[in-house]
Amino acid sequence: MAITVRDVRAFKERGEKFVMLTAYDAFSAQLLDEEGIPLILVGDTLGMVMLGYDSTVPVTMEDQLHHTKAVRRGTKNALVVGDMPFMSYQGSVTEGIHNAGRFLKEGGANCVKLEGGESVLDLVSRLTSIGIPVMGHLGLTPQSVNAFGGYRVQGRDDEQAHKIAEDAKSLEAAGAFSLVLEAVPAGLAKEITESLSIPTIGIGAGPDCDGQVLVWHDFLGITPYRTAKFVKKYASLGDDIRRASNAFKDEVARGEFPSEEYSYE
Ligand code: KIV
Repeated sequence: MAITVRDVRAFKERGEKFVMLTAYDAFSAQLLDEEGIPLILVGDTLGMVMLGYDSTVPVTMEDQLHHTKAVRRGTKNALVVGDMPFMSYQGSVTEGIHNAGRFLKEGGANCVKLEGGESVLDLVSRLTSIGIPVMGHLGLTPQSVNAFGGYRVQGRDDEQAHKIAEDAKSLEAAGAFSLVLEAVPAGLAKEITESLSIPTIGIGAGPDCDGQVLVWHDFLGITPYRTAKFVKKYASLGDDIRRASNAFKDEVARGEFPSEEYSYE
């Protein structure tokens, strides 16, 4: 059965922990969908894990839409979350509405995710009122990497922690149906999770969020560089890919592939 934003809220009401994973193409999305992963995020991490940029800043609407359409084609039941890229919504509410609409109309997403607190509240409430569900994102918001001066845990001091907690309440009041908390201390994430009626989805935010999210390449062990402390690798596909490509290369060099089994008579 197709997952809706109501189902996502119901996870929290029932106290049922849930997961979200990122995907960027149809087959990967299909695998997750068939395994019953309820939320698939077409994250703007696309820029780093698929396109080779060193941050999410250069990612465009066209990049995101291209991959959201692919994920949509591979997904039957999961809720597809379209991640609004940097400068697709920060300029004005009008531009944000236009671009969020494109995610639903052209990309086939069921909802959008956007980063930030106070500065996006008007947009969140307009989108919600016109039928575009919004997932918020607070803490380490990677589109602001230049302002943060690097990828650092956010909310370690009282002032920052207070601001994140306040923003979380404001996003809920503006109509967000869920909230990603990235790289914040576990205690702060717990406090925020307990203070909200909408579910929180943590990444580097400890065990007390209502849900957890990981990035495709990270959780499958494909990412070729050192990953953040919060990444658990559930597979070692990077090693498998290296092994497989060497085996192919060596078998062809030795004349072992293709054997009769893999040839037409
Ligand atoms: O872009 C992304 O993949 C994300 C997750 C890390 C939550 O925003």
